[in-house]
Amino acid sequence: MSQTRIKLGMVGGGATAFIGAVHRIAMRMDDRFELVAGALDVDAERGRAFAATLGIAPDRAYATYQDLIDKEALRPDRVDAVVIVTPNFLHFPIAKAALEAGFDVICEKPMTTTLEDAEALAALVESTGHRFFLTHTYTGYPMVRQAREMIAAGEIGRLRRVEVEYLQDWLAAPVENTGAEGAVWRTDPKRAGAGGAIGDVGTHAWNLAAFVSGEEPTHLLAELSTLVEGRRVDDDAAILLRYASGAKGSILASQVLPGNGNNVSFRIYGDKAGLEWWQEKPEELWFTRLGEPRQMIRRNGAGATNSAIAGSRVPAAHPEGYLEAFANLYRDAADILSGKAASTVVPSALDGVSGSKFVEACLKSNAAGNTWTEVG
Ligand SMILES: NC(=O)c1ccc[n+]([C@@H]2O[C@H](COP(=O)([O-])OP(=O)(O)OC[C@H]3O[C@@H](n4cnc5c(N)ncnc54)[C@H](O)[C@@H]3O)[C@@H](O)[C@H]2O)c1
Repeated sequence: MSQTRIKLGMVGGGATAFIGAVHRIAMRMDDRFELVAGALDVDAERGRAFAATLGIAPDRAYATYQDLIDKEALRPDRVDAVVIVTPNFLHFPIAKAALEAGFDVICEKPMTTTLEDAEALAALVESTGHRFFLTHTYTGYPMVRQAREMIAAGEIGRLRRVEVEYLQDWLAAPVENTGAEGAVWRTDPKRAGAGGAIGDVGTHAWNLAAFVSGEEPTHLLAELSTLVEGRRVDDDAAILLRYASGAKGSILASQVLPGNGNNVSFRIYGDKAGLEWWQEKPEELWFTRLGEPRQMIRRNGAGATNSAIAGSRVPAAHPEGYLEAFANLYRDAADILSGKAASTVVPSALDGVSGSKFVEACLKSNAAGNTWTEVG
């Protein structure tokens, strides 16, 4: 492995932002990256001031993403990749400009706000040959990776049912009216995209279902609701799924259910066994063979598979969680970018296209009176 750290430029992730800070921790956990440039905030001055606190040199603290891409492209020590952690509507123009200027991209979900843009971006990734990583966080958890590996190895038998939930309560009241930045853009269809909860948390659930089960539904039936009066996007969604294999499933995605912080879970059943996982107890994967007692398999413990062990940093029973899962996405991206690995399970632009197809199919099904709708 090269001893040189991979140089990153970040767009978004200002002083008060949520996920940019998580990316900065995750990229440093294994010491493979260095954040050397940024256009960190919609307010250029605020962004520059914050960049200084992160040790970014003043001449690499840019006012806009266009500046970052144009000026970095001319430097001999230019960044290797651009990290995009802005509100959704900016992902497409930033990613497009970065790819066209020759940079690899690490991008937040949902990849774009329309299917048209998602397909254009995936085509650009293909034609430029640059690398594109979509940070669907839950794919970084060791026990999620283990579940995927067990299902691929036939441990649950023929797939019967995929149940995924992503429940929150932070939008249960009209907090966007208080000016809270993350709530304001998430409930504005121009900045979030036409999907509210389905775009913000539903795309994670959709990705998780496919990542673990290894199958993508062909049809869905969605009931989208706006339970907070006056809100302009859906905030609660119940979705039924049908798979080509005959398997069934459902996704429940809601941001308005009191008592739910970040309650992500899956229960996946085949004809031989079932697997269950909750993000709030991420080190435990529950496995039940038909007719046998439930077993709890622990990260890095007895029964852990290779991918769960590889995704661990400390022995079992020393807790790991969200930040380490996120760091696994960065570690895998580093392996690809440094040439240490040829392939990765980290979601790609094609997964971003799949997420957009999901959102569009949900909107179509709902608008047609909750009818079964083809995905894609
Ligand atoms: N992977 C995950 O689990 C996860 C979790 C949370 C958010 N996200 C995604 O991350 C993205 C950001 O979400 P957030 O919660 O951090 O939002 P946020 O509102 O907390 O932060 C957004 C940041 O982007 C900056 N910004 C806005 N316009 C900009 C511009 N033109 N140039 C530079 N910076 C600009 C803002 O100033 C702010 O610092 C969203 O796409 C969201 O869907 C993903």
